[in-house]
Amino acid sequence: MSVLARDVAQEFGFRFGRTPKVSRAPGRVNLIGEHTDYNDGFVMPAALDFATLTAASPRPYRRLAVYSMIMDETRTFDLDAPAETGAHDWSDYVFGVAVMLERSGRRLTGADCVIWTDVPLGSGLSSSAALEVSAAHALLTAAFLPFEPVEVAKICQRAENDYVGMRCGIMDQYVSACGVAGNALLIDCRSLESRNVPIAPNLRLLIANSNVRHQHAGGEYNARREACEEGVRMLRPYLGPIAALRDVTPKALERHRRVLPELVYRRCRHIVTENARVLESERALKAGDFVACGKAMNASHASMRDDFEITCPEIDFLADFTQKQAGVYGSRMTGGGFGGCTVSLIEADAVEQVRPLIIDAYRLVSGREADVFACSPSDGAGLDPLDKD
Ligand code: GLA
Repeated sequence: MSVLARDVAQEFGFRFGRTPKVSRAPGRVNLIGEHTDYNDGFVMPAALDFATLTAASPRPYRRLAVYSMIMDETRTFDLDAPAETGAHDWSDYVFGVAVMLERSGRRLTGADCVIWTDVPLGSGLSSSAALEVSAAHALLTAAFLPFEPVEVAKICQRAENDYVGMRCGIMDQYVSACGVAGNALLIDCRSLESRNVPIAPNLRLLIANSNVRHQHAGGEYNARREACEEGVRMLRPYLGPIAALRDVTPKALERHRRVLPELVYRRCRHIVTENARVLESERALKAGDFVACGKAMNASHASMRDDFEITCPEIDFLADFTQKQAGVYGSRMTGGGFGGCTVSLIEADAVEQVRPLIIDAYRLVSGREADVFACSPSDGAGLDPLDKD
């Protein structure tokens, strides 16, 4: 067992007097492909070393008791009398998953759980998906049911859409469930198939957390999604039975731009050009053309800033500053937006030089502290490695 899993198991033993199994599900960083997932498009995330751990063990009666070490709170849930709506706090992610697992026909057992995480909360690194997927893994394991990664990702997304009320796409849950160490995943969010995209050993993904968290991000996110859906509705009479912006090429959008209000047009332009950039980045990474991948990342940032309008001044500064540093191929905001983190593609041996430059410049310009760390992609959800047998 890793040290962290051992700590969580120890807390579990202290509270419940038994030995649990420990499930782990990672957060993620998205290299490129922002807001394209709910448009049936392409994304290219990687699972991180940061993860949520859920220690769990079955208990009699169909009751769940869940203690969060982070919040220092316990919540309980009756699987035979599930609440229709949540409590509007962290427990919604766990119980929403339990509800949706049951609705999918999987019969759960009661369980005691202890949860801990080192995924930075609300920073665009998918702390929510890590919580959902680790809870799903733990509840399935307690009930001796198989963990089917893509199915579980869909169920967790449903929990977030219909129980938590955030209309997210599938990307975060998918990569948290299916991530592959050393690789980003090119996910086709329509077919739900993925391809591994190796991150060369000489590269690192450099994450800079702006520590800006915008309050109304949930509402803004859903508003972006509505604008995309509006675009599809308005283009349909001209383009035939299109199901999503995935079906619209940049050329077709230009041809019909006049049928769209300016704002809807710009929202759509971000999506259709971003899909093309994801595929170009996959090609470039596979060909070892890191410069081309970096270019696509920089263009993605500009598109999020100018067309989709989901960045903020602090994040724009971080991306712009990092793009100019030696050894950096490209830099962009990652995740849902309105704060959070940037991700940069950087030569491994440039990390130590660039890191303090970013921290100092950001402090000077914004008065804030940035957390900057270099990552390599890790595996998706599973039992904590040394706890498998
Ligand atoms: C959030 C959502 C994802 C995705 C990203 C933006 O992380 O959960 O589904 O839409 O934002 O790319």
